Amino acid sequence: MDIKIRKASPLKIKTSCMVIGVCEKSFSKPLLKELDQKLGGLVRKAQRSGEFSAKVDEQVLFQPAGHLPAERVLLVGLGPAEEITAEKVRRAAGQAIQLVAEKKFGQMALALPDSIKGNLFATLVEAAAEGLLLASYRYDQFLDEKIKALRKLPKTVALVIDAEEDQKSSEAAVAKAQMLCQAVFLTRDLVNTPGNIKSPDFLAEQARAAADKSTLTCKVLGKQELAREGCGALLGVAQGSAREPRLIILQHNGGRKGQAPVALVGKGVTFDSGGISLKPAEKMDEMKMDMGGGAAVIGTMLAASLLALPVNLVGIIPAAENMPSATAYRPGDILTSLSGQTIEVLNTDAEGRLILADALTYAKRYQPKLVIDLATLTGACIIALGHHATAVLGNDQELVQSLLNAGEKSGERLWQLPLWDDYDQLIKSNVADVKNTGGRPAGTITAAAFLKKFASDFRWAHLDIAGTAWRDKDRPYIPKGGTGVGVRLLIEFLHDLAAAE
Ligand code: BES
Ligand code: MN
Ligand code: ZN
Repeated sequence: MDIKIRKASPLKIKTSCMVIGVCEKSFSKPLLKELDQKLGGLVRKAQRSGEFSAKVDEQVLFQPAGHLPAERVLLVGLGPAEEITAEKVRRAAGQAIQLVAEKKFGQMALALPDSIKGNLFATLVEAAAEGLLLASYRYDQFLDEKIKALRKLPKTVALVIDAEEDQKSSEAAVAKAQMLCQAVFLTRDLVNTPGNIKSPDFLAEQARAAADKSTLTCKVLGKQELAREGCGALLGVAQGSAREPRLIILQHNGGRKGQAPVALVGKGVTFDSGGISLKPAEKMDEMKMDMGGGAAVIGTMLAASLLALPVNLVGIIPAAENMPSATAYRPGDILTSLSGQTIEVLNTDAEGRLILADALTYAKRYQPKLVIDLATLTGACIIALGHHATAVLGNDQELVQSLLNAGEKSGERLWQLPLWDDYDQLIKSNVADVKNTGGRPAGTITAAAFLKKFASDFRWAHLDIAGTAWRDKDRPYIPKGGTGVGVRLLIEFLHDLAAAE
């Protein structure tokens, strides 16, 4: 789907659905007054009856029947003008295109309230474009054409602006959204790909393909190389599967030569059956999403390259399949990690932290300025925060705070959990340096406390995306399935980081 900027009055646009964003208490503004007149007072009537007062998530559809060039006018509520945010615009744009696609209107144009000016206008144009694109995504590779036809997206959406001086910045904002969303779609596609197709090698090949069509470089370590390096934790998790593990390394050199990179580490368990500590059957299918962290890293790297972000980045994805078999690792096994620390495996289903331990140690050789890992790490995270926030923990409060800020701006919100040393005692082992589970209490924190032991040489933050990487319900601009969470968050974070340097 293409998005084009058009300078015109929304009331002069010929389209099958003209969508107009409206703020609360703005019904006496010239545009709405004129619209109301042309519609014979229907706008006022809808307001008075309480059908549409421009609150967030409200919509009302009119058929101007020849009184306007547009066949339909859809008003979408954005709430009070002084409280407008990028997130509200994303939602409204997403809900609008959802309606246009379902009703097969075929065409669509969208206008933001004309009272918004300057920098905020460009930000909201970008948000509108993001909302339109993100809402239009479907994972339909395996669906019949007839089912796909139930929804018909417009080929092009016109974003209507009324000031000439906004043209250039609006076009740049749309171009940015297009690139960002392309990367989010790659992440969503990877997460939605079923386990029969998605082996660790498949993930590596997808990373390589992303590098081939961008400026990224890609390196992949196979089983032999991992053994030579001493990645005993990653190899331990992978040994139950017929498919060999991979360590995928992507690099983006957008910053100054020699500048310390930011390292992004993403859990890439292509299917998590639990291993010998087998998971219950219910919803086990969803464990194809257990590489959501790795997919977010691949997507973020691609976005950084497409957007030419002026930072150096290294993305590291340990990829393995966690399966029960005659060769699988067992509860009670002791693994020697790349760091040299030994790990007692008490539960083979706590596999994510094991493969991340080796990847974090591997990150050290890039002498990173900071490290962020993303992982669908604990069910406990869903108990703590539900599906509305990613948990963030780390050893550097400034870094955590920057991530929290990026979460607010991107709409991919984070909530911090504590990582006091007090929790370390829960993962003490009698026979190894550390054990891989800390029991039921504070499951998200003890998982992070485990990772902390492999992240002591750099500033580090951990994002537990167990509740946010996958959704089983549609939301305004995030269809059910893989959400692509992490990409927009990290690009926002990296953008701010580059600006501060
Ligand atoms: N991949 C799971 C965590 C998960 C659960 C992600 C639900 C998304 C939705 C992880 O590998 C896991 O199994 N964690 C265990 C840890 C426990 C054995 C200490 C868990 O959360 O139950
Ligand atoms: Mn598991
Ligand atoms: Zn897992």
